[in-house]
Amino acid sequence: MTDRLKDELLTLALEAARRAGALLRDSRPADLGVAATKTSAIDVVTEMDIASEKLITGYLSEARPDDGFLGEEGSSTAGSSGVRWVIDPIDGTVNYLYGLPAWAVSIAAEIDGETAVGVVEIPSRGETFRAVLGEGAYVGDRRLEARPAPSLEQALVGTGFGYVTERRAAQAEIVRNVLPRVRDIRRGGSAAIDLCDVACGRLDGYYERGLNPWDFAAGELIAREAGARTGGRPGESLSTELAVAASPGLFEPLQQLLDELGAWHD
Ligand code: IPD
Ligand code: CA
Repeated sequence: MTDRLKDELLTLALEAARRAGALLRDSRPADLGVAATKTSAIDVVTEMDIASEKLITGYLSEARPDDGFLGEEGSSTAGSSGVRWVIDPIDGTVNYLYGLPAWAVSIAAEIDGETAVGVVEIPSRGETFRAVLGEGAYVGDRRLEARPAPSLEQALVGTGFGYVTERRAAQAEIVRNVLPRVRDIRRGGSAAIDLCDVACGRLDGYYERGLNPWDFAAGELIAREAGARTGGRPGESLSTELAVAASPGLFEPLQQLLDELGAWHD
């Protein structure tokens, strides 16, 4: 994994995310929120999702035709270069639908299976988070540092919920038990932004069960490169089963609590 390759992938990811973010911001119909309960509004969001993913994969594959792709809207190719792009064309789709600001474009690049570059573009905040493996995490020109760990009781913890009813019921039970043990809970609606918020100290910790690789690939690298710890169940990597991210010192108590509560199963 050379520095030159990582730099090339970062430059491409930044430009692809910038273009997709601008497309989504500028092409979102103004009355989408008003029509939020109508199927047509949901269709528009699906169309925007697909348009964003097409823009990103088109731009990246023109520059690097042999790379693989994994995208939420169905892109799935192995490629032959050892590089695979993991893309969430809109993370925070429900927020986008309702006109709430917490939505993002998330693009990660894996080299030989390891996430080497992550970019999360948040148009409503005018912020672009980025990280390169071993080189730190930044928002704009500012190098990021996760917040020094408070005690679990003083921690502001983000979380999220899946779309399937049975899973949501289990997640509600977990959060019912976590809430009295922490300062407060936030449900922002974009896992990628939640992980960036851990990276920049706007959240002390974050957990969620059931994320897909495109939700967490870029954000996890950004959180880790900012000095936060990430993982799943104790001793395991962050995965679909369970995602935990927190400033060092808070990470273990939070992970332990989630394990005891059974946050890793439905
Ligand atoms: C969702 C968001 C949300 C999280 C869900 C994800 P989407 O992604 O990241 O915060 O709680 O688990 O599915 O559907 O908006 O791309
Ligand atoms: Ca997502």
